[in-house]
Amino acid sequence: MDEQKEVTIQTYKGWEEFYNIEKSDKLDFFIRNGRMLDILFSQQFDRAFLDNMCLLATQIRRMALTKMGAQKLSSLLSHKRAMLYFVQPSTRTFISFLNACHILGMKISEIRGTTTSSEVKGESQEDTIRTFASYVDLIIIRHPEEGFAEKTSWILNQNKTPVAVINGGSGPDQHPTQALLDIYTLERSFRNIGGLDNKKIAMVGDLKRGRTVRSLSYLMRNYKDIKLYFVSPEIFRMRDDIKSFLNKHNIEFHETEDFANVMPEVDAIYMTRIQKEYAEAPAQESDIYPQFHFTKEHLSVIQSHCIIMHPLPRRYEIEVEVDKDPRAAYWKQERNGMWMRAALISYLFGANDHISAEFR
Ligand code: CP
Repeated sequence: MDEQKEVTIQTYKGWEEFYNIEKSDKLDFFIRNGRMLDILFSQQFDRAFLDNMCLLATQIRRMALTKMGAQKLSSLLSHKRAMLYFVQPSTRTFISFLNACHILGMKISEIRGTTTSSEVKGESQEDTIRTFASYVDLIIIRHPEEGFAEKTSWILNQNKTPVAVINGGSGPDQHPTQALLDIYTLERSFRNIGGLDNKKIAMVGDLKRGRTVRSLSYLMRNYKDIKLYFVSPEIFRMRDDIKSFLNKHNIEFHETEDFANVMPEVDAIYMTRIQKEYAEAPAQESDIYPQFHFTKEHLSVIQSHCIIMHPLPRRYEIEVEVDKDPRAAYWKQERNGMWMRAALISYLFGANDHISAEFR
């Protein structure tokens, strides 16, 4: 932490109590006028919403191909302003949200670290967020703390004119917009073989602290007969909260360290990196776990339709030689993020009907 920085901890009464409520029991709190105002965790999404967002993302992608379409899109939210508050490192989430806002014509402000805001002077994070709300219609947050985006929503929803909040990644907990773009990538990749229903997916690597695989796992309840394979070293196994959720919703999952055995079985392989930034004892995490890497030799083992995904950034998990194979889906997956995030923002502000109308 910056030596000159003093952090003020303010008490906002009622927050702890609210945070401890089961997510499925407080979904209504994030809805205004029949649509979600805040996007905070994957449990908010049902199948109809996911299908609509995938369709909308494709419509935006197609409109943006022509000058006339792009101009129409950029007029939709030209009266709205967004703040990107990214106080944990990010490349693609930040850039894709920024460009999603540009596609829709929004005006953007950004803070990319606490050292350049008045938090340096001791202003609490909560007061900082309330300050943003004085100027913008949407706050997109990347934060190292679990629950911080939800806390922001809880604080702002107590105002008469609430500001929309999107969680762009909250510590090792959730990354709901990554899960949306992952679903979009899976559905598009499998569009000629029945979509995501009835598919087998391997999630590989640091499942304990990987927020992307956690958020994606929650979404599996929306699809029929999914089988998950959690492939990880013993110390990075999926946490119990996700496993309880999957059991509750009768979603089959298997845990294993035997990646080679799982590879030929599955329709998608979702690689993740070891999340060292959350290590309690970093010195003990020098291992790069090569038995959980995907190499060019593995391309001959997987099915012809099996896609290889990764939320990126990658380190050693996927060999660069794999990129050339048509089953390597991670660069498309990254690009899909911009379209999906534009779809989501257009939905939040009720502009989605104007987009869909172009295709009637
Ligand atoms: N996938 C993802 O969240 O990447 P960034 O950390 O670069 O935003």
